[in-house]
Amino acid sequence: MEYHVVILAAGQGKRMGAGKNKMLLNVLDAPVVIHTLRTFEQDTACSGITLVINQAEKDVFQDLLKKFHIKKVNQIVNGGKERQDSVFLGLKAVSEEGIVLIHDGARPFVKKEQIAKVVQAADLTGAAVLAVPVKDTIKKVINNKVKETIDRSSLWAVQTPQAFRLSLILKAHEYGRSINAEVTDDASLIELIGRDVAVVQGDYRNIKITTPEDLLVAEQYL
Ligand code: CTP
Ligand code: MG
Repeated sequence: MEYHVVILAAGQGKRMGAGKNKMLLNVLDAPVVIHTLRTFEQDTACSGITLVINQAEKDVFQDLLKKFHIKKVNQIVNGGKERQDSVFLGLKAVSEEGIVLIHDGARPFVKKEQIAKVVQAADLTGAAVLAVPVKDTIKKVINNKVKETIDRSSLWAVQTPQAFRLSLILKAHEYGRSINAEVTDDASLIELIGRDVAVVQGDYRNIKITTPEDLLVAEQYL
């Protein structure tokens, strides 16, 4: 089933501490963002890509798309201050009605089988996310003291891609903006408007490259 994907690359990568956008750091033969883009370039179900970037890095990204022969990016959009602003700006630029995926440029290891599953679930329900059961014991800690231990059996770590009907996710973002909701993923906005979000079990390898250790793991995976 066909889908369009919005890929986010407009962050600053502060936790990576590399002094530049982590999307542009090389892992083996190519920058992180290129590894992510390749997956969608090669997935025949992907009809097009909206790439969200920092305005100041536009030339760098354009040169990379050329150098690595990425052809499915139909548009490059300037991102915003927070991730959710970048998503909203990206979504507004998408013209094809249907299923849209929102994906972190920092997750280069998603597989096309998982993409297909989350797209199918969103086609049925309107909204679906990839997630994996949490393996660690999670405690709530305040001032270096344990406040409580949260029952792990119902905890899942949510990933991207997250898949939605375009009209539904746009409506959810517009509502979130109207009440100044601050969220860390897009499914949260669907929850805010009282709609269900389907969960599709993903893969533990679909990590988000966030801190320097993640780059070592990424090299191993590639
Ligand atoms: N992102 C974005 N626009 C923002 C913030 C983040 O497009 N204003 C993107 C990042 O480029 C990344 C994804 O959203 O691909 C997930 O965000 P995160 O892992 O937090 O990346 P950064 O915000 O770049 O990193 P940090 O939070 O450590 O600064
Ligand atoms: Mg961030």
